[in-house]
Amino acid sequence: MTLAQRTLDPRPAHSAPAARPERGHLRLEGVTKRFAGDVNAVSDVNLDLERGKLLGLLGPSGCGKTTTLRMIAGLLPITSGRILVDDDDISLRPPHQRDFGLVFQNYALFPHMTVAENVAFGLDMRRVPKAEARRRVAEALELVRLPGYGERKPREMSGGQQQRVALARALVINPRILLLDEPLSNLDAKLRDEMRREIREIQQRLGITTVFVTHDQVEALTMCDVVGVMSGGRLAQIGTPEDIYERPASLFVADFVGRTNILDCEVLNGHRVRLGDGVYSCAATTIRPGKAKVAIRPHRINLTPHRDRALLSTSTNSAEGRVLRTTYVGDIVQYDIDIGGPTLQVETPTHGRGLAVAVGDKLLCEWRPDDMLVFER
Ligand SMILES: Nc1ncnc2c1ncn2[C@@H]1O[C@H](COP(=O)(O)OP(=O)(O)OP(=O)(O)O)[C@@H](O)[C@H]1O
Ligand SMILES: [Mg+2]
Repeated sequence: MTLAQRTLDPRPAHSAPAARPERGHLRLEGVTKRFAGDVNAVSDVNLDLERGKLLGLLGPSGCGKTTTLRMIAGLLPITSGRILVDDDDISLRPPHQRDFGLVFQNYALFPHMTVAENVAFGLDMRRVPKAEARRRVAEALELVRLPGYGERKPREMSGGQQQRVALARALVINPRILLLDEPLSNLDAKLRDEMRREIREIQQRLGITTVFVTHDQVEALTMCDVVGVMSGGRLAQIGTPEDIYERPASLFVADFVGRTNILDCEVLNGHRVRLGDGVYSCAATTIRPGKAKVAIRPHRINLTPHRDRALLSTSTNSAEGRVLRTTYVGDIVQYDIDIGGPTLQVETPTHGRGLAVAVGDKLLCEWRPDDMLVFER
């Protein structure tokens, strides 16, 4: 199937009969990479990615994202485990036999070649006849919204345009899987935002199974169907963006993904914790009584004037607080609020602006038990 057919056909390429329960299109089983000197870069990564889905690999610098992607691409041999595509073990197959498209952070375009020659590179390698190659290059440039740019040199194009050429070059071979390693990190904030939408749009239109490496949580949450959060070479959690954000599996994930208050607490029982001077209801926990940590998102805390206490629902937590600091950030205002021991960070959108708050003011902070998550220390 050509890129154009794939573009026009809403069904994902290589679609399986609907009746068969679909196993992952791309599967990693116990994938591990140990470098010389006993560096465990990636340890026992297991995942199962459905056809046509976009997986984001998210994590701090050095957590093993690129190493994982390079093993999938075949650019790095795996130490142990297996990589499968459609149940076919490709672990030992060289990169050019995997039929994967790759895009890296630093475009890696050939500077001496024109845009069209860059895009045609993979087709030339595959000895695709010239006329067909010309047609497919034009299609690919159309797809990334650069029709007519074929005769330019990469240096005559902006960073965003060069990255779109790199994407066209990856897609022109009609790859089975698309692999992207921080493709947007050299672009400024506004262009990144635009390119995120564009990549997602193309990925969904082609229905191409994609792995996208990023250390940017907004990118992971907004673009991906599934997010794998990595820490120290391991997959700390894998799930939908909502799973990861609303139900983080560990303190690491709660802290890494989105802003959050992380505070020392004492678990009293399966649904009560002590925090500073107060006792509060929390999301159900199986953690044994004793010292632990709680996480509360700053924007899940409501601020109410002190005198409105009587209006508060009894099913929520409330704490009296004093404002230590206010910071205007444009779309939100951040407050540091002392609630008798711990300091809570609270965020409110600026559009409502109902409550005029100044340093020293006394307020009530209010939040739902479900928004108070308990973790082992
Ligand atoms: N060729 C190598 N030899 C030895 N150690 C390596 C090699 N390549 C990577 N590492 C180590 O493996 C770990 C994971 O590196 P990797 O490049 O996968 O991280 P990353 O998550 O992509 O980080 P970043 O966000 O900075 O790109 C790091 O500790 C790194 O130093
Ligand atoms: Mg990397």
